[in-house]
Amino acid sequence: MSDKISIAIDGPAGAGKSTIAKKVAGTLGFTYIDTGAMYRTMAYYCLREGISPDDEDAVSSVCDKIEVSLKYVEGVQHVLLNGEDVSGLIRTAEVGAAASKISVYPAVRNSLLDLQRNMAKTENVVMDGRDIGSVVLPDAPVKIFLTASVEERARRRYNEYVLAGQECDIEKIKKEIEERDHRDMTRETAPLVCAEGATVLDSSNMTIDEVCEAVIGLVKEAGCGDFDI
Ligand code: DC
Repeated sequence: MSDKISIAIDGPAGAGKSTIAKKVAGTLGFTYIDTGAMYRTMAYYCLREGISPDDEDAVSSVCDKIEVSLKYVEGVQHVLLNGEDVSGLIRTAEVGAAASKISVYPAVRNSLLDLQRNMAKTENVVMDGRDIGSVVLPDAPVKIFLTASVEERARRRYNEYVLAGQECDIEKIKKEIEERDHRDMTRETAPLVCAEGATVLDSSNMTIDEVCEAVIGLVKEAGCGDFDI
């Protein structure tokens, strides 16, 4: 048995998982693990190799050629694809949509499961994704299902793209989010669900600090260690 503490944060695209998970991890001194980046990395490999994300057989057959690993540079997660740092290349809408498609395939999910579980065995983590509380770390002492209205999530993504200088259309983003929600929630393997024992937090009308406080409150309530926070 590992004596490490895990905090699982799941929820749909744009709910603010990574912002909250990063901040909570910083406050607690835990390692932040963005599992979406791992799926995005596999999707990026497929796009780069000309493999269609819709072709399950083709995608499944290259899983053992893809080694995803994480490294931390001054506390910031970088994701490596066969040793190459692809962190700056995976944050596009195209890679996000492809990640949602390929993450449906069991071969893809299996190839990342051990990596995710092993990380949680060796350090205290705040891990965010879609199936962390339900499949990856079902025994996590703190599980959060972070959500927000589709309109609010589209507005946040729109602002992110504008800040990054990417052209975008808010109605198109909203439609993409709805499609992704549907695919992530209805897939057969490890669908996005509110895990048993998870606390639902709707961040539509909450500030980042309010959500973080709520999460830290749950960590304290769960009696996870003695944090000076
Ligand atoms: O969180 P994100 O937008 O970076 O995730 C991209 C896609 O990866 C998401 O649409 C579904 C998939 N994903 C998953 O299936 N399971 C996870 N634990 C994390 C992400």
